[in-house]
Amino acid sequence: MPARGRRACRARLALGLLLLSAAAATAALRAARPTAGARASRALRARVALAGAEGGDESGAGDAALRLLRRSEAFVLNSVARSLRAAEESLAELGRRHAALGDARPWDGSELLLDEAALPTGERSLASTLAAASAAAAAAAAAADAADVAGGGGRAAERPPSAQPERGALASQLPEWAALEAHAASLRDVHLRELLADTERSAALFVPHRTGERDGEIAADFSRHKLTKRTLELLVRLAEAMGLRGKLRGLFRGELMNGTERRPVLHTALRAAPSDGAVFVDGTDVMPEVLASRQRVADFARDVRSCRRVGCTGRPLRNVVVVGIGGSSLGPAFLYEALRATHLYEQLDGVQLRFLANIDELDAARAIAQLDAAETLVVITSKTFRTRETLINGCTLRTWLRTQLRGQASDEQIDSSHIAACTADAAAAERWGVSRALTFAFWEWVGGRFSVTSSVGQLPIALAFGPEVFDEFLQGARDIDRHCLTAPFERNLPVLMGLLGLWNLNFQNHTARAIFPYCEALWRLPAHVQQVEMESNGKRVSTHGRLLDFHAAEVTFGEPGTTGQHSFFQLLHMGQTVPADFIGFAQSPGELAFEHTAVALDGCAVSHHDELMANFFAQPDALARGCTAAELRALGVSDELVPHRTFPGDRPSTVLLMPRLTAFAVGQLLALYEHRTAVQGFVCGVNSFDQWGVELGKELAQEVRAQMRAARSSGEPPRCALPSTARLLARYLELAAQTPPPTALAGGGARLPSADSAAVRECVGETEDEVCVLET
Ligand code: F6P
Repeated sequence: MPARGRRACRARLALGLLLLSAAAATAALRAARPTAGARASRALRARVALAGAEGGDESGAGDAALRLLRRSEAFVLNSVARSLRAAEESLAELGRRHAALGDARPWDGSELLLDEAALPTGERSLASTLAAASAAAAAAAAAADAADVAGGGGRAAERPPSAQPERGALASQLPEWAALEAHAASLRDVHLRELLADTERSAALFVPHRTGERDGEIAADFSRHKLTKRTLELLVRLAEAMGLRGKLRGLFRGELMNGTERRPVLHTALRAAPSDGAVFVDGTDVMPEVLASRQRVADFARDVRSCRRVGCTGRPLRNVVVVGIGGSSLGPAFLYEALRATHLYEQLDGVQLRFLANIDELDAARAIAQLDAAETLVVITSKTFRTRETLINGCTLRTWLRTQLRGQASDEQIDSSHIAACTADAAAAERWGVSRALTFAFWEWVGGRFSVTSSVGQLPIALAFGPEVFDEFLQGARDIDRHCLTAPFERNLPVLMGLLGLWNLNFQNHTARAIFPYCEALWRLPAHVQQVEMESNGKRVSTHGRLLDFHAAEVTFGEPGTTGQHSFFQLLHMGQTVPADFIGFAQSPGELAFEHTAVALDGCAVSHHDELMANFFAQPDALARGCTAAELRALGVSDELVPHRTFPGDRPSTVLLMPRLTAFAVGQLLALYEHRTAVQGFVCGVNSFDQWGVELGKELAQEVRAQMRAARSSGEPPRCALPSTARLLARYLELAAQTPPPTALAGGGARLPSADSAAVRECVGETEDEVCVLET
């Protein structure tokens, strides 16, 4: 027999052996299942009997113990069943791959050892499938072992009964994860072109969301993802194994979802309707407070807009500067920009908003450029009322107000007419000098990045456009809340978006993702979602403190189309693969301004919006389909240029098409992305609601400030933990000493005075020594 034929023969033998051993493992597991279950059950019953005898209680304690027993039995059987299913799926996959390979398969490994790296692509996925099959079999064996331990009355029998396979197990340790890995391997050589040719598949992955509301439809197309119906089934199984349904319910119900800060996470209560019923936190219904706060903000906004409330000189308050950073700025800024496009007319009667976030003094100068202090309201937004950037900026603006209005009113009158706050710590705001009458509440159980539906978003938006516009936005968010909570996972938009995020990230190895609104009004959406996702799921351990061996979040970025196309899309088409969300609208919000505008191009009238949307539809297809060398040659492209002009395609995206950019639609989008984040975090098993990763930098900045101060007063070189930092800091101090500190900044006609040290100290609550540094 020729060498090639012998190798093929040995390969088939090897595969046959592997199939046999895997089949034997499955059979053994099948056999183990009743035994393990029965043994566990016997042992638990014995324990119940013992507990009953010891306690002398045959009713109450006995009943509770029996309930416990039934749930424990279900747990054991479920674990074994899940593992068996995964093993069987992997085996079926293996069989299909084996059949597909045929006789002429090249074989360059030794008989039974498959060295994955050395194999050609087709066999590499076979090797992965085998590895996954054996992982699944091992997991199944482990589950059967666990059942045996339980049967023997060991530690496992004392686990709290739960639907989870093992308390604290990482998602990646579950058989459902292994099944997804095996499945991903089977799709590795399938191009999106092939998948998109399947019309039935594409139709199944088109998921429309319809509400009774006008313009409430979202047409979501997931067909351009590297997935099949089977992928979705497996992802849903993983979600179920990680308890997604229960976690979502827990979130809406006010259960403690943020373990490290011991808080519930109830942004959904902020947009609930009065008819939605009670939501309890520590036994107290929070809804009366939420609704009262909403009413109070609405009344205040109406008073300002109708000039019942004016500035200290009697002039109307036409400008609002929102001072806040992170979640206290990005959400409201995104919302303002989005609604500005759709509510031009309301805004004319209302006020203009500006946002001041950065501690860079240029940002403060821009925020007040050309503003008349007599017509300006400063809103300090800070959940904690402890964020340095916000308090220092707030202080600077207070000084600006007092300086500009000096002689026309007292400092107290200026403060009480021109400074408001949105905070969860009203006492801290009061200490800082904001009157209680102008302090608007939100609560500890609202995460900063999830706070846009609280007074944080309501106050500026209701001032700018009226409370009714904000209410419409809340209705949109509420619509997606209900959908998220009730729709089956397979038709649930935020659930699908979260699961596909996980799929692309961990099973397709795409570690970045992008958001492209084909709508200029949504230009701040990517920045807001970036914080929501990266601060929420950028975690390294599970809720149980175990180190993750997979990613829970992608690097998120974005830019409106079409400007992004002419900037970085080159890399997306030919460099790395970055799954993207394309968001577009059937109607342009700009039609308000350019209703009758059309440009004649090549003899036909093209509206701006049609041109924009032509790109919106083209880009996802270009990413998915690509352009092959053969196609290029057929088009007459020279051989020399073919490699440069070949597009590999096979790049996934989600397309979201909505009727019109309305406040309702913006609310839907906000909630979609909030819940997508929560879903991904829940399935990854991380705490999406804390943010310890921001703390170290803050602490080190404190040390740097101390060193700056010490070096300046002593003339000694600064001392830092890293010599590199000491060298840079010394150079900074040297250069800064040569530049006289500005006493005021020009700001397009406005003057920005430097804050006085006592006021800054009062803001940030620090010693004079530390504060001096801030004044340089
Ligand atoms: O430092 C990060 C952070 O705590 C964010 O989570 C938050 O959105 C931002 O700072 C602002 O916090 P605060 O609203 O308390 O000023």
